[in-house]
Formats: sequence, C-alpha cells, structure tokens
Amino acid sequence: MTKEEFARQLAEKTAAVEETIKAYLPAQEGEASRVIEAMNYSVDAGGKRLRPLFIAETCAMYGGRKELAAPFIAALEMIHTYSLVHDDLPAMDNDDYRRGKPTTHRVYGEGMAVLAGDGLLNYAYETALSAFDAAQNEEEMTRVVRALKILARNAGIYGMVGGQCADLMAEDGAAGGAKPEDEGALLNYIHLHKTACMIESGLQIGAVLSGAPEEDIAHLGEIGRDIGLAFQIRDDILDVTGDSAVLGKQTGSDEKDGKITYVRLYGLAASRERVEELTEHAFSAVKSLGRENAFLTELLRALIDRNS
Ligand code: IPE
Ligand code: IPE
Ligand code: MG
Ligand code: MG
Ligand code: MG
Repeated sequence: MTKEEFARQLAEKTAAVEETIKAYLPAQEGEASRVIEAMNYSVDAGGKRLRPLFIAETCAMYGGRKELAAPFIAALEMIHTYSLVHDDLPAMDNDDYRRGKPTTHRVYGEGMAVLAGDGLLNYAYETALSAFDAAQNEEEMTRVVRALKILARNAGIYGMVGGQCADLMAEDGAAGGAKPEDEGALLNYIHLHKTACMIESGLQIGAVLSGAPEEDIAHLGEIGRDIGLAFQIRDDILDVTGDSAVLGKQTGSDEKDGKITYVRLYGLAASRERVEELTEHAFSAVKSLGRENAFLTELLRALIDRNS
C-alpha cells in the first residue's frame, strides 16, 4: 500500500468512525445539559480515534455486521475520553491542554470535569448495551455479552484504572526506591494496564462481535499488548521530544509530575528501539491471522514514529 493510499484510507475510516461516535452522543438538553455539554466538549475536541478504528478494522476483517459494532465504537471512545478528562485533573496529571484545546476542567471547572468523566463512563455502558437491540439472533446476543465483558474488564481495576492507580502511586519515586529491575517490571505493569488494555479491547471486540476464530481472538490480544505497550512508550518519548502544537497537549508533563516513564528508565534511543521491536513482533502475529489486513499493518507501522 502506498503512503498516499494509506493516508486516504485512514482519513476515510477515521471520518466514518467519527460519524458513528457523534451519532451516539447525548443531546444537550434537560436539567443535566451542563454536564452533557462538558462530556461532548471533550469528545468533540477530536483525537486520533485509534481504539474505535481498531474495532471497525477487526469487525471488517472477519466480515462482521457494522450495526453490532457501532455502539461499541462509540462506547470505547467515550471510556477513553473519560480517562483523559480525569487523567488531566489537578488531582492527577494536572494538565491544561488536550486535543488542542483547554482541558475540560479548565473550561467547566473541576467538579463538572469529574462529573463529565463519570457521565461518559456510564453513558458508554448505556450505549454499548444498545447493541442488544441490534442483535438478530441468540448467537449475536452471546457475542454482545462477551464484548461487554471484554470492555468492562479492560477499562476497570484489572485494566486501565489499575494502571492509572499504579502510575499515580509511582510518582516521585514513590515506588519506594525499588531496585532497577523491579522498576522495569512496575513500568511494564503500568503501561500494559493504563494503555494497552484499552487498545487490546478494541482489537478483540471487533473480532468477537464478528465471530472470529478463538485462536485469532487470542492473537489479537497479544497484538494489542505489544502495540499498546509500544504506543505508551511512544507517548513517553513524545512527552520529551514532541511538538505541543502537533500533539495537542503540553510536553514535559511527565517530568513535572515525577512520572516513571520509559525515557526516564532507559533513555530515548533504547525507548525508540523498544517501540520498533514490539511493533515487529506484532507484525508477525498479524501475519499469522491469515486475513486481508494491509491497512491494519500500515496503521501499526505509522504508529512507530507518530508525532501526535
Ligand atoms: C492518550 O491517548 C493517552 C494515552 C494512552 C497515551 P491518545 O494518544 O490515543 O489520545 P487521543 O485520543 O488521540 O487524543
Ligand atoms: C494516560 O497516560 C493513560 C490514560 C489511561 C489516560 P498519560 O498520562 O501519559 O497520557 P497523556 O500523556 O496525558 O495523554
Ligand atoms: Mg497520566
Ligand atoms: Mg497525562
Ligand atoms: Mg503521556
């Protein structure tokens, strides 16, 4: 696939996912309209829409029905966006810009940002549950149940929330002066949970909803872990080397907060190498799926040296 063709397909697929997400956003009306406005502000601000793109891609790879995937596409992006709104709060990373705009708490205040996150998380499940209405038979109902379990597990204490907990506790060397090898293990735990879990769930949900073979669903889990870890290492690199205008968020946030990151533990060069290594590993797993997946392969390749 040429670079131009990849760029064209990426723009087209992102626009399609964007339309799906927007279609599920709550109407800004009624007594709760202020919190709904704050929820929609953060989702509308944009972002790469990577996780929902993964659902759409694996759904297409296994010939799944779009109607079944659509509620999950919107729900996963709502959960991801809530995680960003809370991650940026003064009580967590204390950041002022996100997706090229002032963060939700800067515009709506901290209380409303907490509620906007809560609202997005809950509305995500309301949205995902609507997939039952689209199910046409018992088999599809069963797939929706399994997709819901994957979503819930990966977003929660055994997934993203667990990773965020460890990330917060490890600030300023609060890991308790752990030995270097233990610090490495802690960092992997953080990155795999706070970031890879949500990416893994995107890849698996599209496949599960489409009745993919069990073996492939397991492979997609491995791919998600490799790509998710690489994605967060690249995020750590960009926090040091990135251009905030391109990133849409301020750089230097990790150092300001005393975070444990790949760059801090291993340096820039080794971090870049690790991103390439993990992506190469993911490529071989993608090949073993034996499905048409040129776009997915190009997308993973593009993430290696992404700048935003
Ligand atoms: C940011 O995720 C948080 C991380 C897990 C690094 P993204 O880089 O996917 O953010 P958006 O959705 O494009 O804004
Ligand atoms: C956040 O990691 C991961 C989430 C679950 C939100 P970071 O704190 O590094 O993400 P950014 O750099 O603020 O986007
Ligand atoms: Mg954080
Ligand atoms: Mg942050
Ligand atoms: Mg970061």
